[in-house]
Amino acid sequence: MNADPVQEIPGGDAFPSITDLGATGPAQQELHRRAWTATRSRFGDSVFVRGVVEISNHCRENCHYCGMRRENRDLKRYRGRLDSLLELLVHRRPGSITDLNLQAGEDPVAVREIAIPLIQTLRRETPLGISVCLGTLSKDLSAELLEAGATTYIIKFESSQEALYRSFEAPGTLAERLSHIRWLAGNGWNVSSGFISGLPGQGIEGLLGDIQAALDLPLIGCSVSPFVPGESTPLRDASSGGFDPTLNAMALLRILRPDWVIPAVSALNIVGADLGYRGGLRAGANLCTINLTPTEMRGDYLLYKRDRFIMDEDRVLSAIAQEGLTVSRKSLAAFLAAQTQDHS
Ligand code: 5AD
Repeated sequence: MNADPVQEIPGGDAFPSITDLGATGPAQQELHRRAWTATRSRFGDSVFVRGVVEISNHCRENCHYCGMRRENRDLKRYRGRLDSLLELLVHRRPGSITDLNLQAGEDPVAVREIAIPLIQTLRRETPLGISVCLGTLSKDLSAELLEAGATTYIIKFESSQEALYRSFEAPGTLAERLSHIRWLAGNGWNVSSGFISGLPGQGIEGLLGDIQAALDLPLIGCSVSPFVPGESTPLRDASSGGFDPTLNAMALLRILRPDWVIPAVSALNIVGADLGYRGGLRAGANLCTINLTPTEMRGDYLLYKRDRFIMDEDRVLSAIAQEGLTVSRKSLAAFLAAQTQDHS
């Protein structure tokens, strides 16, 4: 499935290059056009729409860029209630979603008490494909999630630069995180990863290294999130990641991995002025996420800012329509299952 990551393009440059990543003006338009064409050739006009529920903001990690870090004492911690989440997801979810992502800080208690029973019931009572984004868990607990019926694990490597990874206290060591990603992929999971563009100290070479690291992993998808300085974090005074390098990184991933699931992340609205999220769809994204976290919990799910831009169903559907795209009726889980079969 993975093509050789370094491809020759006319002109003889190795691809991807710093030049592509820094592209602006007509060169950038051309890069994004190629990404758009690659996306449409593989996925047609349709975009996957997934719901996300943030089931707990307890976290045993301490990542400097993230507002949920354990040392943030300004945050009220919550865990969702199984019965009300089930009621929402079984009876009141938006009609456009085909898949659901359960996300939390790294909180094994929430995995046992909420995620696993929720997944079991959702698999029984709905056609939703289920992904999880729950941190680096033990192998046993990961296996229980798979057994319950989740099929995709979202686990970002955050940064491929070891010094940055360590200095920001990202989970464990970079080597452990990468080997956990490989372990998940080798043990039944579709794995989607991701990295943060514009982390302080990253540099454009660092971002290029992140793209290369993603291409080297056995993934079905990858996100690129622009860094947004978090209010109650050690990086509160740092500058945000740039919109253009983020979109260019997405476009390069798309061109090099036409099959991948690449999400448009809501933080594009924070760093991307008017175009925001829609810029992601133009640069190769094929997945949108509708935030379904109950409003009373949402304000405390703090990745960066309390007033983060919430993508509700109306905003997602209008972004898709404005770009001339349509909502996929096939779930991401079904698409991935069919793809795995084709390749076996
Ligand atoms: N800026 C951008 N992305 C962030 N994340 C956490 N904090 C930030 C931030 N300040 C991302 C990380 C994490 C995911 C849940 O959110 O990639 O894995």
